[in-house]
Amino acid sequence: MTALAMALVAGACSGEDTSATPGTPAPRATTTSPSGSTSPLAPDGLAAAGARADLLVGVALDPALLADPDYERTVREQYAAVTPENAMKWGPVHPAPDRWDLADADAVVDLAEANGMAVRGHTLNWHRQNPDWVVEGAPTWSAEEAEAILRDHISTLVGRYQGRVVHWDVSNEAIDDDGTWREENPWYQALGEDHVRIAFEAAHAADPDALLFLNDYGIETPGPKQDAVLGLAADLVAAGVPIHGVGLQAHLLAPALPTRAQLDATMARIADMGLEVAVTEADVATLEPPDEAGLAAQRQGWVDLTAACLAQPRCATFVTWGVDDGSSWIPGELPGFGSALLFDQAYQPKPVYDEVLATLRAGRP
Ligand code: XIL
Repeated sequence: MTALAMALVAGACSGEDTSATPGTPAPRATTTSPSGSTSPLAPDGLAAAGARADLLVGVALDPALLADPDYERTVREQYAAVTPENAMKWGPVHPAPDRWDLADADAVVDLAEANGMAVRGHTLNWHRQNPDWVVEGAPTWSAEEAEAILRDHISTLVGRYQGRVVHWDVSNEAIDDDGTWREENPWYQALGEDHVRIAFEAAHAADPDALLFLNDYGIETPGPKQDAVLGLAADLVAAGVPIHGVGLQAHLLAPALPTRAQLDATMARIADMGLEVAVTEADVATLEPPDEAGLAAQRQGWVDLTAACLAQPRCATFVTWGVDDGSSWIPGELPGFGSALLFDQAYQPKPVYDEVLATLRAGRP
């Protein structure tokens, strides 16, 4: 098992009209997005069912794959929100101090706006996918220099999409698996613990209406990491920092799932702080090739996650980390694991899709 797999296990302690006859308006479920526009969705799909339960159902998107009509159609028909899987991270968008490459980020926002979808921005401060100038520069910068650079990046990126991005994952994975601060984060190296506060303040200044999230993995179950992340969220709230929610990435492994009771308790801890809960990066991987027991566990994991969110009134967002098993990040980063998403490589809904859909259709308790 890779270090990441071990960490995850440790953490576990406009829809196309395809049916209408000419001249007949297609039957469409519509949902009002946070921006107020309407989104044509498959009336019997994930996002339409979510909307009926006041749950925004989204997906992580790779704009390069939109050229595949099946990928594009699945996104538009099944989801009401998109998160750029990589296209808004520091490395891709800000590869040199004076260079911005925003074409892919723009493509995600444009697709969303053309289809009345919401956008979750991801991410403004993370220890991975940073450009060399940040990784190499940060340990040499004074605190003043680092703060100015971090604030400038966030103000430029959040400001560009002001009013068009409903949520930002402001701080991603700031806490390590043992509950200590993540020392490889360049902003931690340059600014210490303050790097989280500074990022939230800069994001809020650039878009006062966006909801701002502290996002992490391995916090679905109790333990030192959950305590540290939720403790950090509580400290930020107490200090008056503009934080609005905690994102549970929910990269789950079928061999080591959180129980439904653990998910309920985790979400309640967040809600009790007055914060929103978002499931930001859901996938439930099986050992490959999956056997019947693995697939059954996976279905239970997806259903528990979906039902826990529906049962928590402050859980209003549920995002799957990718569309289909063929483009999922899991096999690349967790060798030996896969089959983590709701659609197979041919964009066909899997049996687990039916179970998640039925859970969404059942609505909030
Ligand atoms: C992953 C992407 O899915 C991959 O394509 C990329 O190579 C690495 O990052 N937590 C996060 C996401 O917050 O940004 C990560 O996305 C998955 C783990």
